[in-house]
Amino acid sequence: MEQVRAAITAVGHFLPEDRLTNADLEKLVDTTDEWIQSRTGIKERRILKDPAKATSYMATKAANEVLRKRGISAEEIDLVIIATVTPDMFFPATACLVTANIGATNAWGYDVSAACSGFLFALSTGAQFIASGKHKKVMVIGADKMSSIVDYTDRTTCILFGDGAGAVLLEPDTTGAGIIDSIEHTDGSQWASLCMLGGGSLNPPSAATLEQNLHRLHQEGAPVFKAAVKGMADVSAQIMEDNNLTGEDVRYLVPHQANLRIIDATARRMGISMDKVMLNIERYGNTTAATIPLCLADWENDLKKGDNLILAAFGGGFTWGAAYVKWAYDSKS
Ligand code: UT7
Repeated sequence: MEQVRAAITAVGHFLPEDRLTNADLEKLVDTTDEWIQSRTGIKERRILKDPAKATSYMATKAANEVLRKRGISAEEIDLVIIATVTPDMFFPATACLVTANIGATNAWGYDVSAACSGFLFALSTGAQFIASGKHKKVMVIGADKMSSIVDYTDRTTCILFGDGAGAVLLEPDTTGAGIIDSIEHTDGSQWASLCMLGGGSLNPPSAATLEQNLHRLHQEGAPVFKAAVKGMADVSAQIMEDNNLTGEDVRYLVPHQANLRIIDATARRMGISMDKVMLNIERYGNTTAATIPLCLADWENDLKKGDNLILAAFGGGFTWGAAYVKWAYDSKS
């Protein structure tokens, strides 16, 4: 029997217009453009300034771009999975809002919470519905309005994050393309080094949680950095080894964009040069669940059917993983 795999058949994205540059941040906190660029690789990020617009707005824009580019109607979508740590609200899921916004009246949907690995985890989950034959069209979206949870008085985190959304469509493929393999990990033993403590059932919102600033992202940069360098490099090397791939075989590494130094270490471990690494951290910063699909959107025109991509991420939880994707189409432009 021929093997059915989930292939990415279209990519969409959305980035807000407003830019927060390193020069802007120099006015907010005690930092410098030189420090930010040399320690992270970031020059600017996009910010969704309109307080009436949230993650579902960006996810809807990205989803509509996918529909337009693939030339299908929203009614054809079976399932929408949204990776985010900044849902519009605790419930309903942002996926419910987005299916309604795009008119996906035949779809069901849910959110995945896996921080910076969210898109990878959602992709791997969505792929199972295609490979099993249950569904024919699954939309996987990574979207985060990080500016809604970033503390703009904390110089160690506010320089890192930005807002954005990216989406892909998964469809069955029997030509050998698609998501060939994936590896996923979670380890909650160091959860406290990257978290948002307030607002959940442990610390429900109160005057005290506001006073203690618990409704903002908290990160201890150094331990996360250390774990990220090892986690992302190990899992990328592992997926290459499992699939008998060398650096030569890989067209692009598509890494989560948290820090240029983490990406550099991963590429070195994989034996690939930086010209084969998708990098847009300079322009968008860390958009959490959106980084990987935003890279795919930026590089889509450069990709050819049969190209081997390694997607890799590490993030809060800790969560980390990698996917081996054989690209399924030539760009139309
Ligand atoms: O995407 C989810 C996963 N997240 C990540 O992967 C992020 C991982 N962590 C990192 O990328 C890095 O740890 C940071 C970029 C957050 C920090 O870089 P670092 O090289 O690890 O710096 P550090 O935390 O060791 O701090 C070095 C110094 C400290 O000063 P002292 O104690 O040596 O006097 C910091 O206070 O740099 C200081 N510092 C800053 N200085 C200027 C921290 N942030 C800033 C800043 N501007 N924005």
